[in-house]
Amino acid sequence: MLNKQKVAFLGAGNMAEAMISGMVESNAIPTEQIIVSNRSNQGRLQELKAKYDITAMTKDKLKFEEIDMLILAMKPKDIDAVLKSIRDLVSPHTVVLSVLAGITTEHMEEGLPQGQKVIRVMPNTSSMMRESATAIAAGEYTDDEDMKLAEELLNSIGEVYTIQEEKMDIFTGIAGSGPAYFYYLMEHIEKAGKDSGLEPEVARQIGAQTILGAAKMIMEREETPAQLRQNVTSPNGTTAAGLDALEKFGGGEAIAQAVKGAEKRSKEISSQFKKVLVAN
Ligand SMILES: NC(=O)c1ccc[n+]([C@@H]2O[C@H](COP(=O)([O-])OP(=O)(O)OC[C@H]3O[C@@H](n4cnc5c(N)ncnc54)[C@H](OP(=O)(O)O)[C@@H]3O)[C@@H](O)[C@H]2O)c1
Repeated sequence: MLNKQKVAFLGAGNMAEAMISGMVESNAIPTEQIIVSNRSNQGRLQELKAKYDITAMTKDKLKFEEIDMLILAMKPKDIDAVLKSIRDLVSPHTVVLSVLAGITTEHMEEGLPQGQKVIRVMPNTSSMMRESATAIAAGEYTDDEDMKLAEELLNSIGEVYTIQEEKMDIFTGIAGSGPAYFYYLMEHIEKAGKDSGLEPEVARQIGAQTILGAAKMIMEREETPAQLRQNVTSPNGTTAAGLDALEKFGGGEAIAQAVKGAEKRSKEISSQFKKVLVAN
């Protein structure tokens, strides 16, 4: 199906590149059908064109009527300027996807022509490795066919989960912001390894392989994380000692609070934009 679709990115930053790189790497869509655009930074466009063999142009050169899926990938603060500038250009058949944290489908629908198909997307930066956990939520005018198409495209950058839009904040708390929690965890593992005489690079590789293995166990086996943990914890053994320290220093609570903190911030960002919408 994606053999015919034209996909254009509005915004050529880090997130757009993470997604483009996953799409190109997986051959999900021919590179000539991917267009990347931005406001004005020509150097960045040339860089992406050279790296991925895709089409690149500033926004004012886009042929909107040819675009099947338009992916908004600028910062949330720029959304209203962008919606205003494309409102009279976007074609009725185009499905508008947005990866902008905190921007609701309602907000996008308000800024676009009546009846525009809109999908809210929350990928993470592991898109680059084609290992994103990506959520999609449908707007009011989107049909099953649009959602299937979006899922097919986004499957090229990892796993896709269709969720209700009100769950987007908790999804952001777990998956959107989640890679950073594991990087933080790895920083500490690396430091502990180094303190005990390991080369930091070696400690890093060992830690990363351990996270990968544990993630695969959770994804591919029937046991819950709690059962898996119990299975590897012998009384008075090394794992028990490690887990005791985690408990003593509030490891579990810290992780839960990280997810809740990011969820709360996502809600705050959304409500700021809702206020703007009401004020207009
Ligand atoms: N990082 C993550 O893990 C993550 C996860 C999920 C979602 N997101 C979302 O991804 C989005 C993009 O983040 P980023 O870090 O990739 O941003 P970024 O690197 O700052 O890039 C922003 C891009 O938007 C373009 N732009 C700004 N205003 C524009 C306009 N009026 N018309 C056309 N293009 C415009 C910029 O073009 P110029 O350079 O020419 O101005 C630039 O290419 C954010 O909304 C964020 O919420 C990020």
